[in-house]
Amino acid sequence: MGMAATLKVGPEERVRIRVKVNGVWYEREVEPRKLLVHFLREDLGLTSVHVGCDTGHCGACTILMNGVSVKSCQVLAVQADGAEILTLEGLAKMVSYTQYRRPFGRSTPFNVVTAHLVS
Ligand code: FES
Repeated sequence: MGMAATLKVGPEERVRIRVKVNGVWYEREVEPRKLLVHFLREDLGLTSVHVGCDTGHCGACTILMNGVSVKSCQVLAVQADGAEILTLEGLAKMVSYTQYRRPFGRSTPFNVVTAHLVS
């Protein structure tokens, strides 16, 4: 995790973060309390990352962060500073969804990311 995660800032302030998502580096200013799932969807337009439950149970927001499966509704965007993130958009460029559809039935973000990790 980067330096931004250790900064003390007020709720009105913004923190500059830098993340590599699907192979591209992005630098953005974010609200300190913004969840990573909202950052990915709203700031970067990556709509494969869904909010299903917001409680960490459904897996609809699953991504890979530094090679580890992470539920992005449980992580602040500032905690991702300096991280490398892979979403389904990035995975789709690497592999075919259909390769993972058969063993798991449905192609949810959790299923596809998990299948990618174990393949
Ligand atoms: S939205 Fe359900 S686990 Fe994140």
